[in-house]
Amino acid sequence: MDKPSKIAPAKGKLGVLFPGMGAVSTTVMAGVELVRRGKAQPIGSVTQLGTIRLGKRTDGNTPAIKDFVPLAGLKDIVFGGWDIFKDNAYQAAMTAGVLKFEHQGAVKPFLSTIKPMKAAFDRNYVKAIDGTHVKKGKNKYELALQLKQDMANFKKENRLNRLVVCWTGSTESFVKPEEVHSTPEKFVEAMKASHPAIAPSMLYAWAAVTSGVPFANGAPNLTVDIPAIQQLAHDHNVPICGKDFKTGQTLIKTILAPGFKARMLGLAGWFSTNILGNRDGEVLEDPGSFKTKEESKLSVLEYILQPKLYPVLYGKMHHKVRINYYPPRGDDKEGWDNIDIFGWLNYPMQIKVDFLCKDSILAAPIVLDLVLFMDLAQRAGMRGIQEWLSFYFKSPMTAPGLYPEHDLFIQSMKLKNTLRWMKGEELITHLGQEYYD
Ligand SMILES: NC(=O)c1ccc[n+]([C@@H]2O[C@H](COP(=O)([O-])OP(=O)(O)OC[C@H]3O[C@@H](n4cnc5c(N)ncnc54)[C@H](O)[C@@H]3O)[C@@H](O)[C@H]2O)c1
Repeated sequence: MDKPSKIAPAKGKLGVLFPGMGAVSTTVMAGVELVRRGKAQPIGSVTQLGTIRLGKRTDGNTPAIKDFVPLAGLKDIVFGGWDIFKDNAYQAAMTAGVLKFEHQGAVKPFLSTIKPMKAAFDRNYVKAIDGTHVKKGKNKYELALQLKQDMANFKKENRLNRLVVCWTGSTESFVKPEEVHSTPEKFVEAMKASHPAIAPSMLYAWAAVTSGVPFANGAPNLTVDIPAIQQLAHDHNVPICGKDFKTGQTLIKTILAPGFKARMLGLAGWFSTNILGNRDGEVLEDPGSFKTKEESKLSVLEYILQPKLYPVLYGKMHHKVRINYYPPRGDDKEGWDNIDIFGWLNYPMQIKVDFLCKDSILAAPIVLDLVLFMDLAQRAGMRGIQEWLSFYFKSPMTAPGLYPEHDLFIQSMKLKNTLRWMKGEELITHLGQEYYD
């Protein structure tokens, strides 16, 4: 890909549309509003708090990322979305139960104004929930056209300059790539025939990409991970990225595992289990939705530890992931990890991690960063898969034939080097020989 010669400025307003107005998206909206009003700090957001070193360590030049690249300002963001329930964003946030009492009142007037549009939904893909706020159409193609119209109307009514769509809807049942996903033409035919391999999330993706709108996929669904949508993203000059926000247990896994490998410590097994009680947990009770999630969570260790390259250390590792729906916990997930490692002379050791985390609190800054970086990528003329945003995903999308990079620190370096590359700055390799010449 050519280096952007010029990045268009972030002029005017940016619309952010969420298919799925549940725990994650309402926490993003509430947080952005509280930050805009000076009532909270955007903790966890690289775009808002991160810095980037330019030049040598001795140069002392480390601007804030948001001053280095032209990102949309928080004040210019306008939120909207779709859901199968009629609840406005305030009611949805109350159902999700993430926000503390002191924040609920402060954001009520703002969130109450954000009402979902009718969803393109099919219960066959999310068995655990059902709603009435859904679109009707002769076939899936008609639903997708309605979504395109929604995007155009939202842009016009709110006088927006640009849009970004981020899937924060439920995890859909496992869908395998099929022939109907192979080209844009076959995809359209399949939508017209309401083919079962076309999941609702794909309709949103198709509608966005063919409208010139960047699309980020926060769930483990296939969605934009198919040749038809990737081809369209290329043809329409649209950035896409996914999939599955890297938040709790997988975040910790991709912090710890690279450390074990760097020190050539062996791994006999890694058992991960979770309890969570939000709607996401309820949806993941269904074996179809869980399989989608499991695939996404399991791949991480294989790619980081590369057992084929290191058979002595990782050739026999056992990796298990369990998710248990346990309503009393709500959004306060607890993730336990039992890690069996071995060292010198094969002596075994154990590490236990008990992460008492808050799912949506970890996901919200990721969503904010993704929508701002996707908008930036579009203005910089970067189309198709945005691998530099792997940092945010459990199953990062890559070009065909490439294995994904899961190591959080390599991902972070890749992200920052991409920003330097976009701005024509020298890349940082960490070689450092020049300091000793
Ligand atoms: N919170 C995290 O840490 C985290 C991490 C990784 C991935 N995710 C994924 O993000 C997504 C959102 O998580 P959440 O906790 O907000 O879930 P949630 O259940 O609170 O919200 C999802 C919303 O999507 C709606 N929905 C389902 N199908 C839809 C459709 N076709 N169109 C429009 N709306 C639809 C549901 O009605 C629900 O309101 C899930 O897929 C989850 O797996 C979350």
